[in-house]
Amino acid sequence: MTLYDEAFARGARHADAPLRPVGLDVAPDGAQTHAVMSEQDLLTVRHAVRSATVAAGFALVDQTRIVTAASELARNAYVHGGGGSLTIEVLGHGARGGVRLTVRDNGPGIPDLDKALTDGWTTGTGLGHGLGGARRLMHEFGVDTTVGEGTTVTAVRWNNR
Ligand SMILES: Nc1ncnc2c1ncn2[C@@H]1O[C@H](COP(=O)(O)OP(=O)(O)OP(=O)(O)O)[C@@H](O)[C@H]1O
Ligand SMILES: [Mg+2]
Repeated sequence: MTLYDEAFARGARHADAPLRPVGLDVAPDGAQTHAVMSEQDLLTVRHAVRSATVAAGFALVDQTRIVTAASELARNAYVHGGGGSLTIEVLGHGARGGVRLTVRDNGPGIPDLDKALTDGWTTGTGLGHGLGGARRLMHEFGVDTTVGEGTTVTAVRWNNR
């Protein structure tokens, strides 16, 4: 199992630093889970994430950042993971609020996460910008992936930064 988070990405490699999915210390106001099994589901997910960002009080540019990240992660689960799900949680409204995305699949997993996060690196026909791009659009980002079992990506964007 490989676990990746923002601190790790920035080179803060402390052997005993907790490696964990991000943002789990905040209880959500509400959660909704959507299937990501078709092109239509990808559209549905975009609309649902947009609505959640509105509910959380994000301005238009941030709404679009979060929708874009969700779209890339959902597409990865669909294309590379053979389908999965996306859970949207609203972590309060306004200045102290945020949105957490959790995208799961039971696909092949990611053997080399550093490569997968590198812009331009792809095993498919895409540009290879999705995963790294999604990470840059969000404030917190974690990937929990096991080869042969699947991948879970957790990402949070806060409204006060
Ligand atoms: N959920 C996943 N399951 C398995 N492999 C994945 C998953 N997500 C990403 N990958 C791997 O990481 C690589 C990079 O992903 P990334 O989203 O950056 O690019 P891409 O999907 O290939 O192209 P695009 O720019 O269209 O997103 C993929 O080519 C794939 O090998
Ligand atoms: Mg992609």
